[in-house]
Amino acid sequence: MFITFEGPEGSGKTSVANEISRKLEALGYSILRTREPGGTPIAEDIREILLNKKNGVLDPRAEALLFAASRRQHLVEKVWPALAEGKIVICDRFLDSSLAYQGGARGLGVDNVLNINLFATEGRYPDLTLLFDISPENGLARIAKNANREVNRLDLEKLEFHKKVRQTFLDLAKRYSDRYVIIDASLPLEVVVENAYKAITSRLGDPR
Ligand code: TMP
Repeated sequence: MFITFEGPEGSGKTSVANEISRKLEALGYSILRTREPGGTPIAEDIREILLNKKNGVLDPRAEALLFAASRRQHLVEKVWPALAEGKIVICDRFLDSSLAYQGGARGLGVDNVLNINLFATEGRYPDLTLLFDISPENGLARIAKNANREVNRLDLEKLEFHKKVRQTFLDLAKRYSDRYVIIDASLPLEVVVENAYKAITSRLGDPR
């Protein structure tokens, strides 16, 4: 099962992904916990270009293509082999982040960005996508409080950009309602973890 964790900045999805991976491993499931952009050495090099604050001049289409290139490398080297071995893959961000950030917020168009990504993914989608939904005001305030988190190039975008990210994610949840579950990420972390955990285990079909 290929599970992706998506959401605007400051949704807490990374902490939830860590906690859920730990809980599923304790039940005996074999888990690959990974992230995008990155997850392999080449894809992490591309991540460095994408998130480096000095790359303010990066062209929007070049940005979308680099995210898709990093995705492709990560799928081929890491995600598809793990799925073939029967692992559950938990990926922090994936395709839908490109649709929301580059397609929606950057204004390239969701379907244009989907097209370049379908080339990268050979038309494959995640089995389950959890959307950790939070308002940008709330999410950005959380990031500002978290001294351990390094501010990246996309965090520097204006509030309007982050509002479009959130709205596009919500539109995607309607468009892909068969694979999407919306989780209210403004609730306390333990409640968010519990709700996400239930959404996953109810779909595993093998309660342990
Ligand atoms: P992170 O902070 O969750 O590691 O995410 C890295 C940043 O990259 C975040 O601002 C979202 C952005 N991003 C995109 O714009 N498009 C994408 O396809 C992905 C995977 C991430």
